[in-house]
Amino acid sequence: MEKTDEQFESLQRADRIVYPTAETKAAAYIQDYEAEYGRSIADPEAFWSGVAKELHWFSPWTKVLEWTYPWAKWFVGATCNITYNCLDRHVKTWRKNKVAVIWVGEQGEERVFTYGELFRQVNRCANALKALGLRTGDRVTIYLPKIPEQIVAMLACARIGAIHSVVYSGFSAPALESRIQDAESRVVITADVGYDRGKRIDLKSVVDQAVANCGTVETVVVVRREKPEIALAAPKEVDWENWLEGEQASCEAEPLDAEAPLYILYTSGTTGKPKGVVHVHGGYMVGTYITTKYVFDLKDEDVYFCVADPGWVTGHSYIVYGPLLNGATILTAEGKPDYPNPGRWWRLIERYGVSIFYTTPTAIRLLMKYGEEWPKKYDLSGLRILGSVGEPINPEAWEWYHRVTGGTKPIMDTWWQTETGMILVTPLPCVPLKPGSATRPFLGVEADVVDREGHSVPANAGGFAVIKKPWPAMMRTIYKDPDRYQVYWNTIPHCYTAGDVCRKDEQGYLWFMGRADDVIKVAGNRIGTAEVESALVSHPAVAEAAVIGKPHQTAGEAIKAFVILKQGQPEGRDLIQALKDHVLKELGKIAVPREIEVVPSLPKTRSGKIMRRVLKAKELGQDPGDISTLEE
Ligand code: WT7
Repeated sequence: MEKTDEQFESLQRADRIVYPTAETKAAAYIQDYEAEYGRSIADPEAFWSGVAKELHWFSPWTKVLEWTYPWAKWFVGATCNITYNCLDRHVKTWRKNKVAVIWVGEQGEERVFTYGELFRQVNRCANALKALGLRTGDRVTIYLPKIPEQIVAMLACARIGAIHSVVYSGFSAPALESRIQDAESRVVITADVGYDRGKRIDLKSVVDQAVANCGTVETVVVVRREKPEIALAAPKEVDWENWLEGEQASCEAEPLDAEAPLYILYTSGTTGKPKGVVHVHGGYMVGTYITTKYVFDLKDEDVYFCVADPGWVTGHSYIVYGPLLNGATILTAEGKPDYPNPGRWWRLIERYGVSIFYTTPTAIRLLMKYGEEWPKKYDLSGLRILGSVGEPINPEAWEWYHRVTGGTKPIMDTWWQTETGMILVTPLPCVPLKPGSATRPFLGVEADVVDREGHSVPANAGGFAVIKKPWPAMMRTIYKDPDRYQVYWNTIPHCYTAGDVCRKDEQGYLWFMGRADDVIKVAGNRIGTAEVESALVSHPAVAEAAVIGKPHQTAGEAIKAFVILKQGQPEGRDLIQALKDHVLKELGKIAVPREIEVVPSLPKTRSGKIMRRVLKAKELGQDPGDISTLEE
């Protein structure tokens, strides 16, 4: 069932090239990548404005791009609203009765929304937000499990120009609290419970704890999924159904400046608190629209299934905005890939006739462990395009994914970030694939691999992944922290530095090799070292802490923590468990270290910064490299 390490090695050496089938090629929007790419790069503004013209604008732009390094404005002077393009544009056509969203709950429930129904629900919710006095620019925190209300709430905010901040429902109270406080949200939208492998997760009490310390929050809206219904404290707490009842099903989309913020999404960095990445209506709409269309070759007949949670950027761009902008039929499913059994996703693919499937390397590696017999039970012949995102996909997982889905469907290994908003490096269906490589830049995007000074490195030499020109869906700033935004464009002058290490081969194919900074990727989710360390240090027994990422078979990376205890603290298994529980309480399950080691000291620079790179090298038995700044 599982392949050996040896085979994995030989696959890598083979540098296999997988050509598109005649069928894939014939169907594709883009037939000749090299020619189209060349044209798009010769005049990126012409390319992007051509794309923008496929969408609806209330009033036109006077300038495609205004670039005052490192600040960009796209479609200057235009007015638009992303929800007009996600909804109104479709309900005015035959698509009004086309299925927009099929939702499947963890308990097996199914809910279906046509474009018409989604449009009406969003309008009701938009009117309800207006009734609370919300206006353009106000912030709303959405802390919901993966249920359709999450999508409705996001779109309703966008419709009236309010800025949504979706917080993943796996985060604990202190993490939610700091995100509400930073955004100064007036409204929080949540649910009584979420489900995780059949277990009830009490979300409402997490919100209660978080909101107790958030003076800006006036209203908490609660989606009640369980019977008997939980009690709510009026007038501050309102029931979602009651809240929408009586609201009109029509609400004009607010005409907004193209640069009006659409959302804030918090993501982890190396230092300090999470960064509130800001995306705007106009450019983000253009970027997510065209990448969804070309990368997945999305057509009206497709059923598109992306397994992400809208709590992360993949959900924002490639469950909600990109697919809806294209009028797609979207399947979204609550729950884990192996619950109630490892056939879960394969069964959904058969049941709903999924033709496009977008998942993560972590999930594939998890499913590999259960064996090929699971996908073999189902008819997966409806699939035509596959996707992968979040971390490098190792060739072994790539080959498995390719084989169990029929051996002919191309895998789009899409590289991007919360900050980039849209896919930047990716194959298109017509591009020959090399398993393990995200291949080439998307149209209009100039990507390169450079040294610290910004000079391109020779083919196959490792370096830093950079983007050399602005693109429409790029983040506009870090909320309340413009200095932190500028770091992305100043680290290597005039380039956007992604923080990834990469290699470009002789054919210009990009091979991403992981993070250059200390950010850890657990199951494709970015975990900042600073947040985990500060959670550990907030435990009374801990004096100092440092965390690193260690390679892990399924999760990609796992967190290992090193802690220095305060004097007189007894070591032992109980303490280790207590520390894990503490991180669980402070941050949530995804941030809990798999290993915790008590140490007498930590490697530091003369200026007192912990050298995680040295810890990591020691842990993995590698050469720590330059240690001239190490204090001892
Ligand atoms: C980081 C961004 C992209 C949306 C979900 C994660 C890593 C992402 C790939 C890929 C290699 C990848 C990078 C990047 N990453 N996709 N296809 N191949 N690495 O967004 O949490 O902002 O993380 O994820 O290291 O910098 P994110």
